[in-house]
Amino acid sequence: MKRHLRLGVNIDHVATIRNARGGVHPDPVRAARMAAAAGADGITAHLREDRRHISDNDIERLTAELEIPLNFEMAATEEMLAIALRHRPHAACLVPERREERTTEGGLDAAGGHNHLMEYVTKLSEVGSRVSLFVEADPVQLEAAVALGAPVVELHTGAYCEAFIEDPESDRTKDCLQRIRDAAAFAEKLGLECHAGHGLTFDTVGSIAVIPSVAELNIGHFLVGEAIFGGLDSSIRRMRALMDKARAEAGGARSA
Ligand code: PXP
Repeated sequence: MKRHLRLGVNIDHVATIRNARGGVHPDPVRAARMAAAAGADGITAHLREDRRHISDNDIERLTAELEIPLNFEMAATEEMLAIALRHRPHAACLVPERREERTTEGGLDAAGGHNHLMEYVTKLSEVGSRVSLFVEADPVQLEAAVALGAPVVELHTGAYCEAFIEDPESDRTKDCLQRIRDAAAFAEKLGLECHAGHGLTFDTVGSIAVIPSVAELNIGHFLVGEAIFGGLDSSIRRMRALMDKARAEAGGARSA
């Protein structure tokens, strides 16, 4: 399938650095503008319950000033729902923040939390936000996403990326990657749009970007970390180039 692989740049950790001192520097909205200029298709920001990085004011400003789509990451809480319904972001990604909301590996327990999550998927969809669920590469979670009426899943790549750092050639690394490939294929079969993210780096992005049914990658921490050494523009451009190269090798060069 020929499909442009979108890059969502997560700017949370620009805010983490700002908040280490308080004040206004570095400004996540400036980072978002720079990301757009460097080839990001969208901006991702997670307003956490404890506001440890992104603030309410950041979300206000991103909504008002961004010219590319905002993917609003949120826990399934009444407070976050009210904020999302007010801002009507292009996309809303439901993520776990508390232990009881997660599966053992860290994705949202869409299957176990079915009754609780339904209201969120429905209300966000009603205001026009494209809802995604951040889940493990597990068929049970994908089926739950369908049952909930979510059009998109984001596959958690954290376990794969951790295994890769430990040993790129280990059986565990290979198993994790195969689970993501299988889940992406299953998501497509179920009619779900498939995104992926968490922990991706220059070394791991290619093996995920090459999976043809993956439509979007969301990447943050590594890009902000690399920006310390080479600048944000350069880290995003390099990531974008690696994604495009992998996708082109898979026979799905950028078509949009
Ligand atoms: N996708 C989701 C749903 C996330 O919550 C995050 C941030 O934890 C990311 C992607 C980006 O992960 P990272 O910052 O490790 O690149």
